[in-house]
Amino acid sequence: MEMFCPRMLMSKSCVLLVLLVLENRVIQGQQPYINNHQLDCYNAAYDNLTRGFDCNGVQSSCQSYLTFRSNPLYNNAVGIGYLLGAEPTQIASINNLTSEVAPIPTDTQLVVPVNCSCSSMYYQYNVTYRLKDKTETYFIVANNTFQGLSTCQAMMSQNKVGDKNLSVGLDLLVPLRCACPTSNQAASAIKYLLTYMVTWGNSFSYIADLFGVDQQTILDANQLSQDQTIYPFTTILVPLNTTPTKIEHSPPSPPPAPAF
Ligand SMILES: *[C@@H]1O[C@H](CO)[C@@H](O)[C@H](O)[C@H]1NC(C)=O
Ligand SMILES: *[C@@H]1O[C@H](CO)[C@@H](O)[C@H](O)[C@H]1NC(C)=O
Ligand SMILES: *[C@@H]1O[C@H](CO)[C@@H](O)[C@H](O)[C@H]1NC(C)=O
Ligand SMILES: *[C@@H]1O[C@H](CO)[C@@H](O)[C@H](O)[C@H]1NC(C)=O
Ligand SMILES: *[C@@H]1O[C@H](CO)[C@@H](O)[C@H](O)[C@H]1NC(C)=O
Ligand SMILES: *[C@@H]1O[C@H](CO)[C@@H](O)[C@H](O)[C@H]1NC(C)=O
Repeated sequence: MEMFCPRMLMSKSCVLLVLLVLENRVIQGQQPYINNHQLDCYNAAYDNLTRGFDCNGVQSSCQSYLTFRSNPLYNNAVGIGYLLGAEPTQIASINNLTSEVAPIPTDTQLVVPVNCSCSSMYYQYNVTYRLKDKTETYFIVANNTFQGLSTCQAMMSQNKVGDKNLSVGLDLLVPLRCACPTSNQAASAIKYLLTYMVTWGNSFSYIADLFGVDQQTILDANQLSQDQTIYPFTTILVPLNTTPTKIEHSPPSPPPAPAF
């Protein structure tokens, strides 16, 4: 902003310009980042942030994508599809798996297609999860089992049973976080929003590289700026121009130097 008004910072026209720039940011910034408030299950002040992404898109439902990390409990397309309510054949094909039951090495990031839709105020994809263990709480299901793709707040607001009354065998609705492109995003040829599950050590540039997208579009989509921190087991939206493909963990090694 200094670039636009170096010496007349307090002048009327400059203030107006600054306001216009800020307003533009807000319009382009599509969904606010959850900023680790998913940890605070009982704080109503963060309800709008934690319960889901606003239904502010052009369409009330759309194709969208999630990322999920394989682990010993969910280690093939059938198991992951069962947990996330997605088609195993599609998971296998997007992620270039040899079959729907082929074991996936632990900690592999997978792309999972889901149908996102607006449910009153928030975009979400509903799945059902049956409690297996008496240590499971809304937080543990949302954070540990679903890896932050849902939140305790979203689950508590859509299930009648209180946190203290959960019992093994109970079926819970798990609203997975997803969103459809806004008109601004659609105007920039963005076709899909992928809900990326942040993990340890992720930076904006790392995530942008994984999907071959511009870092700034990710910042804009989440109302974030470069200097802000993102936390493990939170979701950010990655705007995509094309259908996502298998996530490559490390860039292909460079071709050997020509010998002379
Ligand atoms: C949440 O959003 C609704 C509707 O936009 C608004 O009325 C309410 O004040 C918001 N709540 C908070 C805590 O921001
Ligand atoms: C998503 O919607 C498409 C089109 O309506 C449908 O063919 C597909 O089976 C749906 N997928 C899931 C996992 O519900
Ligand atoms: C997909 O897997 C096949 C066989 O495992 C391999 O030849 C091909 O290079 C892989 N494609 C991508 C995009 O990883
Ligand atoms: C969230 O889940 C992850 C993965 O299981 C775990 O490592 C982490 O400690 C959990 N976070 C909290 C605050 O319990
Ligand atoms: C998802 O669940 C909510 C209940 O919280 C419901 O209102 C909504 O219609 C469901 N959406 C779909 C697509 O079934
Ligand atoms: C929890 O269970 C007790 C005993 O059955 C019942 O009185 C109470 O209303 C329940 N609370 C919630 C929030 O489900």
